[in-house]
Amino acid sequence: MADVMPPNMLADVPQTPAGLLSNREKDRLIERGFLGLYRWYTARSQETRNWNADKSFNWRALSPNLPPDIMTVLTGFFAVEQYAPDFTSNLINLVRRSHGRSHFQMRWGSEEEKHADAWENSVLFSGQRTPQWIAEYKERLKSQTWELPFPDALHNMVYTVFQERATQLNYLNMMKIAQGKSDKPHLKDFSDPVLAKVAQTIAVDEAAHYNFFLEGVRMYLYYYPQRTLEAIRAIVSQFSMPAAKLVPDWEKFYETVYRAGIYGPRDFSRDVMQVAFRNLGIESRKSLEEGLKKTREVPDFDGGNFKSTVIWDTFDYGMVEGDVKRLHMRIQDYEKLIGFDAIDPTEFIQNPAVPRRTEQAADD
Ligand SMILES: [Fe+2]
Ligand SMILES: [Fe+2]
Repeated sequence: MADVMPPNMLADVPQTPAGLLSNREKDRLIERGFLGLYRWYTARSQETRNWNADKSFNWRALSPNLPPDIMTVLTGFFAVEQYAPDFTSNLINLVRRSHGRSHFQMRWGSEEEKHADAWENSVLFSGQRTPQWIAEYKERLKSQTWELPFPDALHNMVYTVFQERATQLNYLNMMKIAQGKSDKPHLKDFSDPVLAKVAQTIAVDEAAHYNFFLEGVRMYLYYYPQRTLEAIRAIVSQFSMPAAKLVPDWEKFYETVYRAGIYGPRDFSRDVMQVAFRNLGIESRKSLEEGLKKTREVPDFDGGNFKSTVIWDTFDYGMVEGDVKRLHMRIQDYEKLIGFDAIDPTEFIQNPAVPRRTEQAADD
């Protein structure tokens, strides 16, 4: 796992075949990409998503008659986001040596904190739970600690890609219900513009989170395809929403969310997994499994590195390379705006291990 750590954490660097990037160099490139992405992200967050959980919504206008199922859902959303300090501190500790990633996690945490406060406000202003009830509920939540689902940075990052997308989907579907667009009999007559705006505002943040982590996984996929694909396979085979084991009455919450058409196993498969796969150049779960199986069948002789040639058939590496390049162009545009480009520009370095289709065609 040493070589997925940020730079300076590497004790022993294995010999690198001639013409290939060393793990140290790959780590440096990924770290640099994260730093640029984080700077770009922060500026954009401040410019376009600088909302406030109290002042951005007309809380007094929230309906005093929210349906019981909506109350259950809002309370669950509030409960999950309530663990923002645990999510943030654990993840920061894990990546503390990486400037781009650890500073990003602070920014991310400050956005998740707003989500917790906005959902709490929705429960409070519904008028259906007393401030005392909320205080006790929070105490109950805070008596438990959220722990990292995986011990290493790569698996946690891959997990977060799927988790952010799933969360975004939950909030977007909540928004549709609040807009009066539910086709479920028990919710179709319900609408609330305040709630619709809250859900939409938070969903936009979750989309930005998804994109940040997606770009990170793309960089890993590009420079470390084998271990990244293995991590993706491990995550999708055991995915569950964060804090599912901590939130009281999770089963009731989950059933209510499912019944409301907000989220369920089919939504995960179609609107989370498939979407993330498409964004990562992976055709399907089946093709991922089969591709990885093939790489295990290929012997990896000392210095021969045959495995690394087979792995490129498992995903659309051309697409991922294009995406990583585009990310760097976006970072470079940002750096030009500030003046970083003249002093210390972020540069895209091609991974020489990536097969070149055009060269192969020319050889044929
Ligand atoms: Fe959130
Ligand atoms: Fe998020």
